[in-house]
Amino acid sequence: MARILITGSSDGLGKLAAEKLIREGHQVVLHARNSARSKEITYQVKGAESVLIADLAQLEEVKNLALEANKLGKFDSIIHNAGVLNSDSKTIFNVNVLAPFVLSALIEKPKRLVYLSSGMHFGGKPISKLEDIGKINYSDSKLLITTMMKAIARHFPDTYSNAVDPGWVPTKMGGKNAPDDLQKGIETQVWLATSKEKSAKVSGLYFRHQKALSPHPAVLDEDFQNHLIQLCEEVSGVNLLP
Ligand SMILES: NC(=O)c1ccc[n+]([C@@H]2O[C@H](COP(=O)([O-])OP(=O)(O)OC[C@H]3O[C@@H](n4cnc5c(N)ncnc54)[C@H](OP(=O)(O)O)[C@@H]3O)[C@@H](O)[C@H]2O)c1
Repeated sequence: MARILITGSSDGLGKLAAEKLIREGHQVVLHARNSARSKEITYQVKGAESVLIADLAQLEEVKNLALEANKLGKFDSIIHNAGVLNSDSKTIFNVNVLAPFVLSALIEKPKRLVYLSSGMHFGGKPISKLEDIGKINYSDSKLLITTMMKAIARHFPDTYSNAVDPGWVPTKMGGKNAPDDLQKGIETQVWLATSKEKSAKVSGLYFRHQKALSPHPAVLDEDFQNHLIQLCEEVSGVNLLP
């Protein structure tokens, strides 16, 4: 049995992954943006250990979330799942990039970290300057989170750090006409978070449907990785490396 924290588990892929993990006998800590969403998810998802609350667009709430998570004790795996598609650039950056950065830096390192990327990261721009945050779109944010995954894999060799493209699936974000399979959309995160298979105990890789694929070339660029980490450290005031 593994103990797993999933961000953004009040809906969509995060909620479905939580339900699957609970069915499989794992101990799951959920996360919701506010107490109203927390009440709803407590009612809807039976068998979770607890629900942590934070609006990931708010830096102080994210820092507090890390403190609350650490009070609960060490996790085996964390799935950084929460994300926004249609919002202003600052919110997209805060939720999709800065929040997973701050949580990765401040929560005691689990054995496995999983970051939700997207096939849309291939259309992203490798942004790492403070003045460009105001221009960030969803594709850019997914390129940044995939790059962060790679940097974390490099800096923390004792933790498996990987990214997942779940496919284009019918959630609130994906829309009801999304063509890909919803169940397949959660399998890879669940597998990377829990499987004893050798092929799941890897690091620094970008997966789609349990297959490692080549990501955008910028993901592999160590200078870009370093600039991105510096940018997140500057904006958050949180250091990734001790
Ligand atoms: N669906 C797709 O086709 C697709 C494709 C590629 C990648 N992805 C990625 O997969 C992940 C999950 O997407 P999804 O389709 O499941 O999206 P979703 O149905 O919109 O769910 C997103 C989750 O993130 C939470 N969230 C968003 N902003 C938040 C904030 N400021 N504070 C706290 N929680 C917040 C949402 O909370 P609320 O329920 O309160 O809004 C919800 O639980 C995302 O990272 C997304 O980018 C999805």
